[in-house]
Amino acid sequence: MIAQRVRNIAPSATLAIDAKAKHLKKDGKDVVIFGAGEPDFNTPDNIKLAAKKAIDSNFTRYTPVGGIPELKKAVADKLKRDNNIDYGVSEILVSCGGKHSLFNIAMAVLDKGDEAILPVPYWVSYEEMIKIAEAKPVLCKTDEKFKLTADMVEEKITPRTKMLILNSPSNPSGAIVSHEEIKKIAKLAVEHNFYVLSDEVYEHFTYGDVKHLSIGSLNEEIKNLTILSNSVSKTYAMTGWRIGYTAGPKEIIKAMDNLQSHSTSNPTSIAQYAALEALNGPQESVRQMVHAFDERRKFIHKRLNEIGGISCVEPEGAFYAFPDISETGMSSMEFVSKLLDEALVAVVPGIAFGSDRHVRLSYATSIKEIERGMDRIENWLKQKAVKIENEEI
Ligand SMILES: Cc1ncc(COP(=O)(O)O)c(C=O)c1O
Repeated sequence: MIAQRVRNIAPSATLAIDAKAKHLKKDGKDVVIFGAGEPDFNTPDNIKLAAKKAIDSNFTRYTPVGGIPELKKAVADKLKRDNNIDYGVSEILVSCGGKHSLFNIAMAVLDKGDEAILPVPYWVSYEEMIKIAEAKPVLCKTDEKFKLTADMVEEKITPRTKMLILNSPSNPSGAIVSHEEIKKIAKLAVEHNFYVLSDEVYEHFTYGDVKHLSIGSLNEEIKNLTILSNSVSKTYAMTGWRIGYTAGPKEIIKAMDNLQSHSTSNPTSIAQYAALEALNGPQESVRQMVHAFDERRKFIHKRLNEIGGISCVEPEGAFYAFPDISETGMSSMEFVSKLLDEALVAVVPGIAFGSDRHVRLSYATSIKEIERGMDRIENWLKQKAVKIENEEI
């Protein structure tokens, strides 16, 4: 009796693995978890204080559907400050997390028969959102380092192309699209008149010399075709607060506001005041977090490449490593389930991101935990190799 619309939706593999690992942990099992897509840091104190103040000031009622005007203004200021794009408040909508922003975008822009180009590997929810909107995901290969180029996108353009999904830095690969390619992709979008959904949730998580570039900042023509989505979840360790935002053409924002008015109404009033402080307040916590992640990134990348059967491209951004495990002879699902059952380490199967050769590890956890996890994976694979050798003799 379930509606066709939701019958074929694949459940989020990341959340499923995380739930299983946490369940084992609750049962007293010593599991090392690399599953979660969230910082292990706490929300900074100034942000928590702003939320407490909001409660004490009785900011506990409905707000305008798309967010309080002060928060929209803070988003506009942030987009100018960090991304060098001018947006007015009528071009901004606040929603219940970045995921909700993206869902609203898919619903407001995609029609049955439309095509959305989706670079592989992709974050799990994009594909399902496109399908729920009854549009067609058109998968677009990237290179062996997960780099997307304009040529790769161009190959996938048809008269039905309505949108390209750009997620740089990327979940799951950590790859960043080069500035040169972003400029070329912008030209393609203008030439073929399709939208670019630019999901910039990991914009601050870039390491070394590579910096984030917002495609909408390039010129007015591409700005008019860009729908920028972001959230406070990752940047400020606020995953549970559920505040995301969209900036884009007025008519799209208005349609999304309309849709949101009949589903969630406004995002939580208290969380909006917390997000206001996050965007307007001191940014030192972001720098500290990124610095810690950079150390972990280097460590996990080195350790993974020392393990026989595994090879890993150096992630340039976000907080994930996406190693190739195909040499082990296991599918990503087999690797993940056996690793959890036999060595108590939780990682996410690459198949959920469109690649069965890989698994995803979130390094948003302490160096000590990463070390314990790497030791276990190494020993587990060594034992497996010995077992295979013995069977062959
Ligand atoms: C690429 C990407 N976009 C969007 C989101 C949504 O984050 P949130 O809904 O917490 O803002 C996530 C979370 O994992 C993500 O990885």
